[in-house]
Amino acid sequence: MKLSSKDFLGLENVSADEISYILETAKDMKKTVNSSMKKVNYLQGRSVVTLFYENSTRTRVSFELAAKYMGAQAVNVSVASSSVAKGETLIDTGKTLEAMGTDIVIIRHPQAGAPHLLAKNISASVINAGDGMHEHPTQALLDMMTIMEAFGTLSGLKVAIIGDIYHSRVARSNIIGLTKMGAQVNLFAPSTLLPPGIEKLGARVFSNINDAVADCDVVMGLRMQLERQKKCLFPSINEYARFFGINPENIKGAKKNALWMHPGPVNRGVEMTSTIIDGDNSVINKQVTNGVAVRMALLYLLTGRE
Ligand code: CP
Repeated sequence: MKLSSKDFLGLENVSADEISYILETAKDMKKTVNSSMKKVNYLQGRSVVTLFYENSTRTRVSFELAAKYMGAQAVNVSVASSSVAKGETLIDTGKTLEAMGTDIVIIRHPQAGAPHLLAKNISASVINAGDGMHEHPTQALLDMMTIMEAFGTLSGLKVAIIGDIYHSRVARSNIIGLTKMGAQVNLFAPSTLLPPGIEKLGARVFSNINDAVADCDVVMGLRMQLERQKKCLFPSINEYARFFGINPENIKGAKKNALWMHPGPVNRGVEMTSTIIDGDNSVINKQVTNGVAVRMALLYLLTGRE
């Protein structure tokens, strides 16, 4: 099976079969991630560039490691010290990278749609590593992989997503991906952090956390994205943590074996208490490991298209 596009820009136009295929491939890739010899040659002779206009630890490093584990040349463009700072446009930057023989450009950008614009203007593959408040498709893939590892399926599971849904590209990609795979997604957030019409993506909105997490297999917290909030959307961080933060008490209605997830970086004590983050049901570090496997799978499948 081949991926239908040269690029990977979001889960909106990716079929459930393609998602399953990427997750199956990632399962194989994880063997390399977990081995003491992290070297296969699937991408030998290929070159991969990470172009991040926003901060990142997990996504950027895991893409770079994924490329290197598979034998590719991997280069990071430090946007702040690149010619972007001299006014070069995104398209000109992309064409410049392509002229140097880049096969895949992995981009994170504060503007929704920036990866799509780049993909239209260069023939190299483009992967969306997060565009504004739109999508973060590889995060959703690694989240789905982590859930599948625990339950063997996504179909029929109940997943509660709690927190700053308005600004969250992670929430959007997860709602799209999980519902495509047959899971039920419940949402809970302060009304100011809930985008109007989000139900249209197939999620259910709840007005209290107890109802949102009741009988859930997964409780996923989201980072409070203060850097995207242009106006005051809740009275204080303390008040947010008190009424909307996830703690052992307010999620006790979830299933006993429910997974506790967070895409990271976590603001400890705001979105989740440390008892949750470091608790037995927490799979936050597994999510990070699976991030490398999923990104290896995607790089492999995109380079093997033709
Ligand atoms: N989850 C995530 O995107 O983390 P980074 O911002 O560290 O890449």
